[in-house]
Amino acid sequence: MNMVPTPQGPPSSTVHVPLDDRSYEIDITSGLIKNAANRILQAIPDLSHALVIADVAVDEPWANQICLELSAGSKETRISRQTVSSGEPSKSIAEFERLLTWVLEEGGDRRSVIIAVGGGVIGDLAGYVAASFTRGIRFVQVPTTLLAMVDSSVGGKTGINLPGAKNMVGAFWQPNLVLIDTEVLSTLPERSFLSGLAEVIKYGVIDDPEFFSWLETNAKSLVARDNEALRYAIQISCECKARVVGEDERETSGRRAILNYGHTFAHAIEATTGYGKLLHGEAVAIGMQMAARLAIDLGLSDETLLQRQTDLLNACQLPTRLPEADPVTMLPVMMRDKKVAHGELRFILPTQLGSVQLVGEVSDDAVVKAINASR
Ligand SMILES: NC(=O)c1ccc[n+]([C@@H]2O[C@H](COP(=O)([O-])OP(=O)(O)OC[C@H]3O[C@@H](n4cnc5c(N)ncnc54)[C@H](O)[C@@H]3O)[C@@H](O)[C@H]2O)c1
Ligand SMILES: [Zn+2]
Repeated sequence: MNMVPTPQGPPSSTVHVPLDDRSYEIDITSGLIKNAANRILQAIPDLSHALVIADVAVDEPWANQICLELSAGSKETRISRQTVSSGEPSKSIAEFERLLTWVLEEGGDRRSVIIAVGGGVIGDLAGYVAASFTRGIRFVQVPTTLLAMVDSSVGGKTGINLPGAKNMVGAFWQPNLVLIDTEVLSTLPERSFLSGLAEVIKYGVIDDPEFFSWLETNAKSLVARDNEALRYAIQISCECKARVVGEDERETSGRRAILNYGHTFAHAIEATTGYGKLLHGEAVAIGMQMAARLAIDLGLSDETLLQRQTDLLNACQLPTRLPEADPVTMLPVMMRDKKVAHGELRFILPTQLGSVQLVGEVSDDAVVKAINASR
């Protein structure tokens, strides 16, 4: 980690993601878009063909700027540009095929570089196109939602959905560079922004008590989208995820599972309340409350942790209860979750702020009680 003023503009932070020959850097700053071309050319000096794939909602303000800067910065770089409709339905086989065909028509080859500009949907989709075209081409992520900045653009998971089966097809494919500009968040709708804060809080609970305290002190600045506060929170979040991913790149050791804190409950909430009613981060906020309650009931944790988590979620204007949560419909969904082993529910539960453990043999009764406590 370093925090140095760049000659071109405001202070920037760089997070190094150490993955042997797949290592890369995440640049975090405010106003970086103006410097995006320089940074991309620095990371990829032989850039001859850039394929910019953008969410249609961010094409005009943000992808456009990157393209302009890129063409001004390098006369040798050819730029192809494509937009994708906003929303989860774009993570489909049809859209994947359309983009691959487009890359081919644009004369893409093994040296071409995909630049994804958008939230997690675009990162996952365009990343999978990059992973697949000629068995893999280089790839730059420019995440434009808070969730994409602190979560989906770190870790190398790319992919699309099958009908009724989310993220069922995909590949591990690391980007060559991630460019994060907090100013890009200025156009993000409020609910989506706040929803991303739930994942930020998650990192404090699972890995970093000092960061959790910092979040408690700075919640107001974050909610107000103060650039400096955002940059720090994004940096610590990316460092946390990068550390966990570095220990378990392909989800084989089980270490990566700690990132799923609150998520077994959240997935069941999303499935039973109907996708779209709650944003993912909102479901995660409530899911973390249920998980913390379960930890207390199992004698692993105390009320103080739950109280501090509740207060911080409240300060970030996130929900902490779900009156319509229904254990009868949620339980079967949880049994189908990936974390179930031999028909037994397993959870990532906090023991104290900054530490979690994988807990198996959790009875249905305990789960129902934890759900009911958050209604
Ligand atoms: N690969 C991973 O490790 C990983 C991790 C977590 C989530 N995900 C995936 O991420 C996706 C969710 O990502 P998301 O929450 O970023 O959703 P998203 O990409 O759908 O973006 C949310 C909405 O915000 C709009 N938007 C994006 N940036 C904007 C901006 N700067 N200004 C205005 N509008 C903007 C989009 O058009 C969209 O309507 C899911 O598909 C999920 O599966 C992947
Ligand atoms: Zn999540």
